[in-house]
Amino acid sequence: MTVTTLEIDAARIGVLCGGTSPERPGSLASGKAATQALTDAGLKARMIDLAEVSVPDLAGQIDLALLALHGLGGEDGKIQGALDILGIPYTGSGVLASALGMFKPTFKTLLKGHGIDTPAWEVVDPAEPMASMVARIEQRIPDWPIFFKPCSGGGSLVAGIAHNRADLESLLSAARSEPYEQFMVEEYIDGMPCTVGVLEIEGELMALPVLGVETRRDFYDYEAKHDLSQRTEHCPAPLPATQLQEMQTTALNVHRLLGAHGVSRVDFMVGANRTTVLEINTIPGLSAQGNLAAMSRAAGISYPEMVRHVLHTAMTKPAYIP
Ligand SMILES: Nc1ncnc2c1ncn2[C@@H]1O[C@H](COP(=O)(O)OP(=O)(O)O)[C@@H](O)[C@H]1O
Ligand SMILES: [Mg+2]
Repeated sequence: MTVTTLEIDAARIGVLCGGTSPERPGSLASGKAATQALTDAGLKARMIDLAEVSVPDLAGQIDLALLALHGLGGEDGKIQGALDILGIPYTGSGVLASALGMFKPTFKTLLKGHGIDTPAWEVVDPAEPMASMVARIEQRIPDWPIFFKPCSGGGSLVAGIAHNRADLESLLSAARSEPYEQFMVEEYIDGMPCTVGVLEIEGELMALPVLGVETRRDFYDYEAKHDLSQRTEHCPAPLPATQLQEMQTTALNVHRLLGAHGVSRVDFMVGANRTTVLEINTIPGLSAQGNLAAMSRAAGISYPEMVRHVLHTAMTKPAYIP
């Protein structure tokens, strides 16, 4: 069955979540809340944990997929490609934007080519001898500290600040147990992490109010993301109105530049003299307590309305993009 806007009320909606990504817990929270919101709205929604159901088995079981998957295997274009082959419409970005958004070095190259500020970076191989690695890094990024992170990670996992070689060495040794990842270091930006949600509403892309995070932890790390007592959120962020507007414009530009569809969240660092883009999340967290929900609320959009807007992005895909 091909789903049109009129048929959405009758469609069997699969809320795909969970899976085997390191971001599984957040994804299950997104999936549970979104399923509840759709069910409360009278739609036929079912939460499907991809750790329990194989993707090819979805054929014939669902008419439409709402993607609440985060990280590798869910947000990186692979599920999107599989659903394309199965002919199941899905929410959010297609294969190309999902893959580009997941791999930070390529994403940042794209930003740089379009004059959008992003911290300087260098891809590093944990197997490389320390001396040559540090020499290479210092050529690109002369000042310490530097910020270490996976190229395709999320949720601030395996990331950290290196003030010196010894810190970098200990981050690298933790990274060595993540065999399938690649890693990078970035110029360290001292400032406030901010994020801007982008949501398609009745065919129009809207940048939501900027959300800023304060935390007493060293950075907006895994604990700060998962424990409300470790952070304070402000929406809109306490910044001048013109700066907030510029960030919203940049978020829309980044979303469009990538060819993202329907929904995304662009993460920034706001320093004293610099507002710079860290990354895009093509499947932002969809839980009722998440950033996207908070930004939607600040824009006067309730949680059930937000989920409904995300659902509708499955029906408004543009002409063919790989
Ligand atoms: N270059 C940087 N300088 C300072 N802090 C950073 C830098 N990159 C990331 N961080 C910190 O790590 C957090 C997560 O980084 P991000 O690039 O958004 O990765 P993730 O995909 O894990 O969310 C940011 O919110 C910020 O607190
Ligand atoms: Mg982020």
